[in-house]
Amino acid sequence: MRIASCAFGNGKMVTRTILTVGCVFWAVLWAPAVPSVHAMDPDGCLTCHQYPGMVTSENTLAIKVLHIDEDRYLRSAHGKLTCKQCHTVVQKVPHTGDTRVECTTKCHLSEAEQRKVRAYALDNFHRREQSAIARLEDPSSCRVCHSLYPHSQNNMVRGLLNLHTGFMVCSVCHLKKENFPGCYYDWNGTETADFVGEPFGTFYNPKLKQAGKSKHFLSRISVFARVKGQKKSLMNTWDTAAALEFRDREKEISAAVRKERQAYFHRDINRKEISVACDECHSEHSILNFKALGFDKKTSHNLANLNIKGLVTHYKTFYFPQLFEN
Ligand code: HEC
Ligand code: HEC
Ligand code: HEC
Ligand code: HEC
Ligand code: HEC
Repeated sequence: MRIASCAFGNGKMVTRTILTVGCVFWAVLWAPAVPSVHAMDPDGCLTCHQYPGMVTSENTLAIKVLHIDEDRYLRSAHGKLTCKQCHTVVQKVPHTGDTRVECTTKCHLSEAEQRKVRAYALDNFHRREQSAIARLEDPSSCRVCHSLYPHSQNNMVRGLLNLHTGFMVCSVCHLKKENFPGCYYDWNGTETADFVGEPFGTFYNPKLKQAGKSKHFLSRISVFARVKGQKKSLMNTWDTAAALEFRDREKEISAAVRKERQAYFHRDINRKEISVACDECHSEHSILNFKALGFDKKTSHNLANLNIKGLVTHYKTFYFPQLFEN
């Protein structure tokens, strides 16, 4: 790690202090605790892109998978290249819209090859390296109206928020907990799922001992309460029938009534600031007891000290330090 050579792609736009903080931040992000392939990923792209289920969406109908599996990438025809050898324009986070790639910086140099790559359909280029959930049967009222990858507003975090819905239900983050004193977190039962690419995630086992991947099933963390000594799930299924009816009749309903019904469906729901939200779980005072949920010691430590959190909560724009200058 050569922090001394740390400089920013666009140093003009950041103050010296942020520059230093940024360098230190990136150095920390690369600490051994964070899995990343240093040799072929000198820019740390996989620090974020390594997670299955990382999906972005402008409008929740069309999704774009952003996950790149490290092993499958390394085994691919282009696995020896660094990401930036093709993605020459990605210089900062967020980089929405920076989709331009150059295939002829160092490779495909001959006339014939240049013609060939120009004609090549680039969509789905990383298809074999990507995984997401195509369908997850979820009986909650939320999913009557919202998709599994529902976050679309804030391009700094929507991709990272969306990956969470593959391992926890909406209410874990969105429940107004003050309305449910004593609520706690545990694994939910099995849900039916179909995947794009390789299956991933946790298949139900109370304490993860033999948890594994399953082609068609998934378990997620949910929120529970004790009601008369019984464990009761607080994933909202009691409004599902009404939500379905509302959805079917929505067009006939007046704007005022619609608003009122919306408020009703969201009566136990809130939306937290990003700065608060990540810290609720990824910190030493996490509302989730990672160990009790079955995560091993190392993973629990990593989840409590997740460094990406700092990036999305402290920066509006983060310029990549050029750690490996020529
Ligand atoms: C700090 C996390 C982070 C790092 C590091 C990161 N990305 Fe991203 N990347 C994201 C997020 C989040 C999105 C989705 C943005 C959105 O939702 O619009 C994204 C989107 C993309 C996209 C798609 C852009 C689009 O609009 O379709 C490409 C291409 C991409 N990243 C390449 C890279 C490359 C190459 C690197 C390394 C130089 C890199 N990323 C490093 C978080 C990151
Ligand atoms: C050989 C060139 C090449 C290399 C190397 C490469 N990519 Fe890509 N990448 C592409 C192309 C081509 C696209 C599709 C662009 C388009 O849709 O127009 C793409 C798209 C993406 C996207 C957007 C999602 C998608 O599937 O369209 C992400 C995210 C991304 N790349 C990340 C990475 C990361 C991270 C690395 C390094 C581990 C990497 N890429 C290495 C060529 C490359
Ligand atoms: C009947 C359809 C419907 C149901 C059921 C529903 N939602 Fe929504 N939800 C919406 C619509 C439409 C919006 C956008 C409203 C707006 O922009 O004012 C929304 C907005 C939201 C927001 C953003 C609120 C904000 O302040 O920006 C959150 C969070 C949310 N829903 C979560 C949930 C969760 C969790 C559930 C399940 C308990 C749920 N929703 C059930 C339709 C629904
Ligand atoms: C890991 C925690 C987490 C989970 C799980 C989660 N959300 Fe969110 N959600 C958030 C946070 C934090 C925000 C605020 C984002 C912001 O301000 O940009 C948010 C914002 C939203 C919004 C409004 C902003 C937007 O981007 O559209 C909607 C709608 C929403 N969530 C619905 C859902 C639904 C539906 C589910 C379940 C399928 C869900 N969320 C699961 C944390 C979560
Ligand atoms: C309600 C708790 C909760 C909230 C809120 C939450 N996370 Fe997470 N997050 C988790 C859990 C649990 C995992 C690990 C799940 C697993 O690996 O099965 C995780 C995993 C991740 C991962 C992948 C790390 C890894 O090693 O698997 C990233 C990145 C991440 N979270 C970022 C964020 C960011 C950024 C925010 C705020 C916008 C956030 N999280 C908010 C609970 C949460």
